[in-house]
Amino acid sequence: MYLILLGPPGTGKGTQAKLIAERLGLLHIATGDLFREAVQQGSELGARVKAYMDRGELVPDELTIATLMERLLQPDAQAGVVFDGYPRTLQQARALDDALVSAGRVADAALHITAPDDEIVQRLSGRWLCPNCGQIYHEVHRPPKEDRRCDDCGGELAQRDDDKADVVRARLERQRPPEELLEHYRAQGRLVDIDGSQEVGAVTRDLLAAIEQMRSESAPKRA
Ligand code: AP5
Repeated sequence: MYLILLGPPGTGKGTQAKLIAERLGLLHIATGDLFREAVQQGSELGARVKAYMDRGELVPDELTIATLMERLLQPDAQAGVVFDGYPRTLQQARALDDALVSAGRVADAALHITAPDDEIVQRLSGRWLCPNCGQIYHEVHRPPKEDRRCDDCGGELAQRDDDKADVVRARLERQRPPEELLEHYRAQGRLVDIDGSQEVGAVTRDLLAAIEQMRSESAPKRA
């Protein structure tokens, strides 16, 4: 199964992608995570993407598509993937369609998570991440049991550089899914809107119900 999570920054794509991937036995691929790892490792890719990320801008399509395709070709991606934060442009969506079709596959659902802007700003300013295992926390909505320590691996939690208020505003202005991207999946009958303003468990429940509905609609009907 290949699932796509779309939505503005901070609507819960990463939180939900992790939960759904674990639940359905899929690989979680987040282009944001791939770029942050590259920056941390000081690689050539990291040097090329850092300035875009620091300004809250999208990384150019050519670089983003190449990064995603390299990851998608790894053996652990062959049993299914939850895409988190990819695609964000029509060109990225078309590249993914082509890659899946040439492997005899399709994207099963594009799940579009939304939440009001003031809720998003509040979520991002309170976000803490575990740099070791990627677990996501929030100081109010999902605090760790021990202050600034990851519940899962004990790692020291950190905040993202691009969660500063001015960069959050830039990301919100520039990184909403464009209408042409939503229309691309709507025309394929694969777009489902999900209310991301609910608590985490309710959003997961709605996502799983939408995935099940899509699967039953696309299953071959018996004569
Ligand atoms: P990326 O890492 O993808 O950032 P983003 O899209 O801005 O998304 P976020 O990770 O900020 O938010 P999220 O929706 O995952 O929310 P989360 O679950 O963490 O991208 C970073 C940068 O990389 C981009 O700016 C761009 O430069 C570049 N990039 C990446 N992909 C690209 C692409 N395809 N093309 C071009 N450039 C690309 O939740 C946020 C907080 O809210 C957390 O604290 C969480 O605990 C809390 N929370 C989550 N759900 C709930 C809930 N239901 N109720 C209460 N709190 C909640």
